[in-house]
Amino acid sequence: MQILTLTNVNKHYKQKHALKNFTYEFQNGIYGLLGPNGAGKSTLLNIISDNITADSGSEIKWNGENIRALGSKYRAELGFMPQQQSLYDTFTAVRFLSYIAALKGLSKSKAKTEIPRVLEKVELSEYSKHIGGFSGGMKQRLLIAQALLGDPRLILLDEPTAGLDPKQRVIIRRLIESLREKAIVIVSTHIVSDVESIADRIIILKDGEINADGTTESLIARLPDHCGKNLENVYMQHFGDKEYDT
Ligand SMILES: Nc1ncnc2c1ncn2[C@@H]1O[C@H](COP(=O)(O)OP(=O)(O)OP(=O)(O)O)[C@@H](O)[C@H]1O
Ligand SMILES: [Mg+2]
Repeated sequence: MQILTLTNVNKHYKQKHALKNFTYEFQNGIYGLLGPNGAGKSTLLNIISDNITADSGSEIKWNGENIRALGSKYRAELGFMPQQQSLYDTFTAVRFLSYIAALKGLSKSKAKTEIPRVLEKVELSEYSKHIGGFSGGMKQRLLIAQALLGDPRLILLDEPTAGLDPKQRVIIRRLIESLREKAIVIVSTHIVSDVESIADRIIILKDGEINADGTTESLIARLPDHCGKNLENVYMQHFGDKEYDT
């Protein structure tokens, strides 16, 4: 069992207070991160992955130890799929994954078993052509695959299902679900139904703050007249128009 704790995590950009006193304890399981454009989802995932630095005073601990002190030990436990990422069009999927595996410090023999494993998980084993010839959804799946290299204990996926066709969304949803026992998985998405049934907890961010947090069922139960309602209704209650209650 892993524990990731964030205490009073703040992030200011020049004008913008993008993340406000974010305090949370994550344990093994799936966390769905929802919120409108600009809510702070990517900022949070970038901070947890140590790609951007939070304001001073923010504290992030992995199993009780500060992530900065853990350094490469922490990064070895981490798989991250950023929202924006460029791929190398002239590479094949295998070459791209070999490159990422090397960056992550995987041994050559480990990479040799890991690359086919993750390619199979995202149904890309058959494709040996250059990434430049991939469809948008195939590229997206390759980015998911690289986050799974080395079987990490902390997996951060920033809008993994964006641009996927319905069948692939189901495949990716099942894949995420299969990670629940062994890892902390934090998934940001705009597609509410992608996390509704698989997330152990839903975190709704609004203007850099936690607006609501709980199991899907508990969030729905808090709705007035909640019979027959779903997570999209919860989202609309937080962000929709005033017509919601009618
Ligand atoms: N590098 C940056 N410089 C200045 N402001 C930034 C920077 N990155 C993010 N912001 C601001 O911080 C806020 C949170 O942005 P963030 O990207 O975390 O939102 P998000 O919830 O991921 O949105 P989206 O759903 O569009 O991906 C926004 O107001 C954004 O404009
Ligand atoms: Mg984002």
